[in-house]
Amino acid sequence: MLKTLVLAGGFGTRLRPLSCSRPKTLFPVANKPLIDYTLESLSEAGVETVILAVYYMAEALVRYLGPTKNNLGILYLREQRPMGTGGPIRLAKDMMNGEKFMVMNGDLLTDFDYKRLINYHEEKGGIATVALTQVEDPYRYGSVELDWEGRITRFVEKPELGKAPSNLINAGIYILEPEIYDYIPEGGKVRIETEVFPKLAEEQQLYGFESHGFWMDIGEPVDYLNANAAVLARQRKVIKPDSIEIDPTAIINGPCNFGENIKIGADSRIGPNVSLADDVQIGKGCRIENSIIFAGAVIEDYSSVKNAILGENSVLERWVKVESGSLIGDFAQIGDGVTITEGVSICPSKSIEESILKPTQVM
Ligand code: GTP
Repeated sequence: MLKTLVLAGGFGTRLRPLSCSRPKTLFPVANKPLIDYTLESLSEAGVETVILAVYYMAEALVRYLGPTKNNLGILYLREQRPMGTGGPIRLAKDMMNGEKFMVMNGDLLTDFDYKRLINYHEEKGGIATVALTQVEDPYRYGSVELDWEGRITRFVEKPELGKAPSNLINAGIYILEPEIYDYIPEGGKVRIETEVFPKLAEEQQLYGFESHGFWMDIGEPVDYLNANAAVLARQRKVIKPDSIEIDPTAIINGPCNFGENIKIGADSRIGPNVSLADDVQIGKGCRIENSIIFAGAVIEDYSSVKNAILGENSVLERWVKVESGSLIGDFAQIGDGVTITEGVSICPSKSIEESILKPTQVM
């Protein structure tokens, strides 16, 4: 099976402040780091060597994974400065031994059939084949136009409503021939989607492979919550270890995934679609729904969290409400009676004493 380059060095700016203290690939999805899902799927497909292109918070990823996992050999390609989605491909040239290879974004959850993608690429004989996935809202991404032979003829970045040539978008998985190096200038930052693929399309060297498998990317908070909910839905039940203490009057509505040493107080209602990481403490009369709670967070009595993400060791005091895609940074503290709604981001370690009811970033 082909060597695979996984792009894992991005800043994850749309997920700040949570990405201020961890790379996106280590964000927990149903209590397991995102990168583990990627490595498992590559290993199952028979990949033996993965090259991780790392930059932002590289150390955390190297420390977590080490040289091997899931029977995969893991090599690291470290950038001195961010090289974008194309630069790392040029940088990895010496590691690919002049052979074709696969590239994938490190912020995906997918069960794509990589082998079918490779077969299709070989059949078509272009320099590159891009996996495509169908979405309901191509307007958020870039839409792809195909000709009858499966060649990509055009990319339309963020098309206007009603003007997308198709519902197919670039899924962030590619098969590339060694000729690709001629299209990527050495040593600089290159965005493959906008600087390389349109040129290959013009030269009729770019094919698109439509795949109908499970696919989600984690770009924005809502994607992260949806990805978490999708994985929980696949697990179907409430997953909880023995070390957890749940008051008998608390109600758990699955699917949920709980880590170790969690406490849940009387009359609290948890779920559906909730991940609680290790050491989370929840007081009495709390409500938590469709949310991700990182390790060590404390939610005191009568507080509620809906469609939101709480960072590591964050604290919600009593009668706090956090909702609507809001992100609470690690170690932030939200005071008694505060309401936070509508896309609010609170920086790590910040104390908040007054309610915030419109989209803001609190530094
Ligand atoms: P945003 O900043 O929120 O857009 O997120 P991002 O940093 O993940 O950027 P984007 O979604 O465009 O990245 C797609 C994939 O490419 C992700 O897996 C990133 O980790 C990866 N990526 C983006 N920029 C770089 C880079 O400079 N170097 C490496 N090695 N990977 C990158």
